[in-house]
Amino acid sequence: MTIESAVAGHYTTGGLTARILDALRGQGIDPGRLKPEHLDPVGEFHIGGIQATRELVGQIALGPKDHVLDIGSGLGGTARFIAGSAGCRVTGLDLTPEFVETARALSALVGMTGATGFEVGSAVEMPFADDSFDAATLLHVGMNIPDKGRLMAEAARVLRPGSPFAVYEVMRTGPGELAFPVPWAEGPETSFLGSPDHYRDAAEAAGFRVGQVRERRAFALDFFAEVQRRMVAGGPPALGVHLVMAGNRAAKVANMIANIEAGLIAPVEMILHAP
Ligand SMILES: C[S@@+](CC[C@H](N)C(=O)[O-])C[C@H]1O[C@@H](n2cnc3c(N)ncnc32)[C@H](O)[C@@H]1O
Repeated sequence: MTIESAVAGHYTTGGLTARILDALRGQGIDPGRLKPEHLDPVGEFHIGGIQATRELVGQIALGPKDHVLDIGSGLGGTARFIAGSAGCRVTGLDLTPEFVETARALSALVGMTGATGFEVGSAVEMPFADDSFDAATLLHVGMNIPDKGRLMAEAARVLRPGSPFAVYEVMRTGPGELAFPVPWAEGPETSFLGSPDHYRDAAEAAGFRVGQVRERRAFALDFFAEVQRRMVAGGPPALGVHLVMAGNRAAKVANMIANIEAGLIAPVEMILHAP
């Protein structure tokens, strides 16, 4: 089994679209009258959810004529957010066929099939021509990719010169043994956390200019504290990223928080500019 097939297997849970539609109905939302914001609790599979997406994407200038690439697009929440807020076209690329199928289905349900498209493929061998995109995003994907150099080289290749590349990744911020499983991996065999310096070096080697870098540890811990407060007050929500995780969900989330609290990992934003 290759790393990529193991990663796609990790993210495949089966019947995902149907389970999301059931959860929506459970919350009294008719899938026939769905609005993009109804999907926010489940469509953003990264720390900080839609708030993190908004804050990351807010740092790059996008206009209606742009064609944006979301690398590792998951269920398509980031792509729909960008298409809706900037009024532009967004293509998502993801390794996991079930995620691509669900992203397409959810976009269709909110009338965004024309604005968003999703393709199955690898971030280190993208099925796109050189200079295809005006901007790109990468949210919580690099931790499944061992070769950050290839990832950055591919991003540089498909971006037009000077285009922004907004990265929001879980990175290694301190030494020590990580607790597993975590939401992106059952164990160290498919977890490849780079440090901020590692990402910076890979980006610069691919020709990117590194702009703003922002560690988001405090934001992440505040976010989890708020999720916990809501769980205590109202119980677990029907619609959430737990639908996207196979087995051991509570342990995966608890270990991720413990790793952040221990200073071993943190989400970090990095705004890059293509050569
Ligand atoms: C934690 S999810 C994040 C999804 C999405 N970016 C989001 O924030 O909602 C990680 C995603 O990265 C994708 N992924 C992992 N390795 C990849 C690769 N080599 N190429 C493309 N996608 C990859 C997985 O299939 C999964 O959808």
